Amino acid sequence: MEKLANNTSFRRTLLRAAVLSAALLAGGFQLSAPNAAAQQSAASSGIPHLQKNGAATQLMVDGKPFLVLGGEVRNSASSSVDYMKPIWPKLAAAHLNTVLAPVTWQQIEPEEGHFDFTVLDSLLRDARSNNLRLVLIWFGSWKNGVSSYTPVWVEKNPERFPLVQNSSGQFLGVLSTFSESNREADARAFAALLRHLREVDSAQHTVLMLQVENEVGVISDSRDHCDAANEAFAQPVPKELMDYLAANRDTLLPEFRKVWEDAGAKISGTWQEVFGPGPATDEIFMAWSYARYINRVAGAGKAELPLPMFINTALVKPQDKVPGDYPSGGAVAQVHDVWRAIAPNIDILAPDIYFADFPGLLGRYSRNGNPPWVPESAAGPGGAANVFYAVGFGSIGYSPYAIEDQDDPNGPIAKAYDFLSEMAPMILEHQASGTIAGVWLSTDRPTQDVTLGGYTLHFALRVTRKSTVLPDRGYGLAFQSGPDEFVVAGTDIQVTFTPTTPGPPVVGLAKVEEGTFRQGQWVPGRWLNGDDTQLLYDLTALASQNLSGEGVSFPAGDPTIRRLQLYRYP
Ligand code: DGJ
Repeated sequence: MEKLANNTSFRRTLLRAAVLSAALLAGGFQLSAPNAAAQQSAASSGIPHLQKNGAATQLMVDGKPFLVLGGEVRNSASSSVDYMKPIWPKLAAAHLNTVLAPVTWQQIEPEEGHFDFTVLDSLLRDARSNNLRLVLIWFGSWKNGVSSYTPVWVEKNPERFPLVQNSSGQFLGVLSTFSESNREADARAFAALLRHLREVDSAQHTVLMLQVENEVGVISDSRDHCDAANEAFAQPVPKELMDYLAANRDTLLPEFRKVWEDAGAKISGTWQEVFGPGPATDEIFMAWSYARYINRVAGAGKAELPLPMFINTALVKPQDKVPGDYPSGGAVAQVHDVWRAIAPNIDILAPDIYFADFPGLLGRYSRNGNPPWVPESAAGPGGAANVFYAVGFGSIGYSPYAIEDQDDPNGPIAKAYDFLSEMAPMILEHQASGTIAGVWLSTDRPTQDVTLGGYTLHFALRVTRKSTVLPDRGYGLAFQSGPDEFVVAGTDIQVTFTPTTPGPPVVGLAKVEEGTFRQGQWVPGRWLNGDDTQLLYDLTALASQNLSGEGVSFPAGDPTIRRLQLYRYP
């Protein structure tokens, strides 16, 4: 959809409007005690680990921060070495550095206690020979809420491995979280996987992180109603969770605190006494139970090899009304605090695919120190916009789903990754210093303000003297590269500046160069001036609004880079 931008006042509105502030990572990420210990031991033994570097939490690989330019293959792809054979080189040619690939319980433990890692070993070999790293996705007890990847010996023995029951008492094809036998069987298999990785991947560090399970939660009911679940539901809320609420009352996420406070903010009682009756309480109860189970599984794995571990979360869709319409108990924003309280072995609560308002999603998934990381998202031109925004937001990286479908080696994700891989060292450095921001614009969000280095950078969708139409989307990255100096990269955006520090209010462009980065070095091209930087000419009208009319624009197509110096009028 395109909108008209055919008069100066609209253009000026775009230039001036301040819709959103720069979304920069706040400091303050505190690793919980078990995590801190595990990650210290990982750091000292060279195992990939998360590390707080200044303003960002980064993935450290072979002693250096690593930016994941990834892609997730479809669910069944990595179950076959032959199927993957032609895919690896295609992904390498598309400038990925990491592939997210499922490893399934069913396939690695076909008989109880007998593990078969033949396929995994070949995947490791082929990833390495294509110079790719891996993030493994553990399809264990659950994948998209259901238990379809459990081994046959689990599926055939529901007495030993009990299933969720709905409110009518019917069994669903979902392993119950209220069974120790389910949990321990999964934990044993996951531990075996990590033990194997320790044995075969200690030198290369091909595997960087693990996703534990996939999109967990009870579907089509707001909670499990099996006997053990009903019994737990009638018990007092466990002390561990109550203590966390009491200790963190001021910093609980507002949507969670509201549920608790609306029910009287009690510090003890049954689930319904503490959180009130209704599906929101069922969801909190299930979040506690999934978090407890998955924390145990992740912990068993970390005891063998302390790689970073995250979960992905099926998000609430516009048509969803109650938990159960979406998986109830997964780490949606309103129960993040429960997961943080109960699952210290999970380092990141990550979101799943979401097609609207990507900046809003990253904002919700980076509160209270949760490190931003996008393991499963869109490809295509929207994906290119997302990855720019994500890395500028401080994300560990980005990964579109069904990456093998992106056949064009010059497609938007491949182009974006090619561009960003040249800039990766600079991106990582500026993530740590908090001097970077991502820009993500659409016709619904045509402007974005970023505050960096004493200036507000007013970004807008690009308008040209000749064209009266706005592009559908624009995206970019802004770095503060020195005092009064910025590097900005982007597609279909433009930027103007106002100061945030005392002094003269009008900002001019002292010098603008286009150029590229090669191996971290700036290689200048044209000097941009004249028609390329004077966006508006009604100088007196602009001066009365403390504007110079100068700005920098970035054409459609492949992203371009400009380095610019600012000065202030007297
Ligand atoms: C989200 C899941 O996490 C993926 O494994 C995959 O099934 C996609 N949905 C399909 O869109």
